[in-house]
Amino acid sequence: MNDELKALVRTIPDFPKPGIQFRDVTTLLLDSGGVARTIDALAETVDGPVDLVAAIEARGFAIGGALAVKLNAGLLLIRKDGKLPGTTIAEDYALEYGSDRLAMHVDACAPGDRVLIVDDLLATGGTALAAARLIRRAGGEIAGARFVIDLPDLGGGKALAEAGIDHASLFEFE
Ligand code: PRP
Ligand code: ADE
Repeated sequence: MNDELKALVRTIPDFPKPGIQFRDVTTLLLDSGGVARTIDALAETVDGPVDLVAAIEARGFAIGGALAVKLNAGLLLIRKDGKLPGTTIAEDYALEYGSDRLAMHVDACAPGDRVLIVDDLLATGGTALAAARLIRRAGGEIAGARFVIDLPDLGGGKALAEAGIDHASLFEFE
């Protein structure tokens, strides 16, 4: 079944830089059945309580928002630095094609909240690990991390495992 979802992802060569095969989840999002099956399949990988889904800008907002509804959890938005209006904390990170800085409202989670990190894609794991550092700094506990797509050759799954973060994705691209 996840092969059908994988077939809905478009690959764009040389975006955003030469040599990168960009796995474009927007084509999966255009398919109404595909979105519903994606969210159902992600929800099936989650056991145990989740107070908040932490969705990562930008494509993670779409997946994480829908999954938060399905799990009856709140939605915590983790954004690129400079976008959130309240008092924030921020973390720098590296990714496959550059580096960036993520931020969250410092009061977005209460101590002990169980927070599930959600994004469209796991590559190096830099983004998800930066999100985990933010959530822990704010007092939250990491319930795990969930992705639609994994690029295992880039090592993100290994990095999350080494950090003790339970993680799962629906399908992989070499
Ligand atoms: C992509 C993707 C993940 C991140 C994964 O986002 O949506 O957030 O890269 O890479 P990593 O595991 O190596 O950290 P991108 O940084 O391109 O930002 P965008 O969603 O705002 O386009
Ligand atoms: N984020 C990091 N690497 C990516 C890729 N190859 N496709 C889409 N998003 C990415």
